[in-house]
Amino acid sequence: MSGNIQQPVVPLEDLYEDVLGKAMRGLGISVEVLVARSGLTREAIAAVLEGEFDVEVVAALAPVLNLNASSLVAMGKKQWQPQTPAIDGVAMFNTPYPGMTVNAYLIWDPKSKDAFLFDTGTDARAMLEMINNAQLKARAIFLTHTHRDHIMDLERLQQALPDVPVYVGRKEPVDGAMPVDDQQQFVFGDISIEARLTSGHSIGGISYIVTGLDRPVAVVGDALFASSMGGGMISWADALANNRSKLFTLPDDTVVCPGHGPMTSIGEEKEHNPCYPEFKM
Ligand SMILES: [Fe+2]
Repeated sequence: MSGNIQQPVVPLEDLYEDVLGKAMRGLGISVEVLVARSGLTREAIAAVLEGEFDVEVVAALAPVLNLNASSLVAMGKKQWQPQTPAIDGVAMFNTPYPGMTVNAYLIWDPKSKDAFLFDTGTDARAMLEMINNAQLKARAIFLTHTHRDHIMDLERLQQALPDVPVYVGRKEPVDGAMPVDDQQQFVFGDISIEARLTSGHSIGGISYIVTGLDRPVAVVGDALFASSMGGGMISWADALANNRSKLFTLPDDTVVCPGHGPMTSIGEEKEHNPCYPEFKM
């Protein structure tokens, strides 16, 4: 199987107000503190947090939350969507979950047909169909983290692929899965997969860095989204720091495969993700 796969069209996971809310919760900054630090009124702040977009208010709040103002304003104006990265050997599977959708990925070596599954989404049947139709050889199932939406159909994969090992971050054990540690390497012919601990959204979240295709690929779960990131349910500070040291150090052309929202690239996120203001001019 060759040629770039047509990826599903998926809207951005988060709106500007979601990013504001995540940063507020992550930094422990209340509306009162925003009022004190921004000089804005409580009413003006409450309105933008509820989705009544206002350029001046959003731009004034951004620096208080260490967000980049112009990227956040572009989200509010709905001006930005990442370009779908063109790459052979990567397919996204987008499945519904109440109130949202979730992504799983199939990545394969077009030459050897060795294939790797990343998460399950809520229904993994389409992944299994592609493996059968393209006669791919499933070698491993890698889980980014164990929030239910990402691993909901694991049993189906384990039944269909009983000899294929399942891997998950050591701090998020799953029945029948082997623990993965930070910097653990997996080599399958020309394809290498490196696990990187990107905890913060979840306690043992792992990003998998795949090399050996035309471009590097990072399957990041909820560590990073196009122009946003997963909430810091364990630690916002850890989530930011891990992304900075383990994802934003990857080459700009690295394809980013998030657990929610569209695929993107490290270069595009440096330019457009409001959570990483240090990369903006
Ligand atoms: Fe999650």
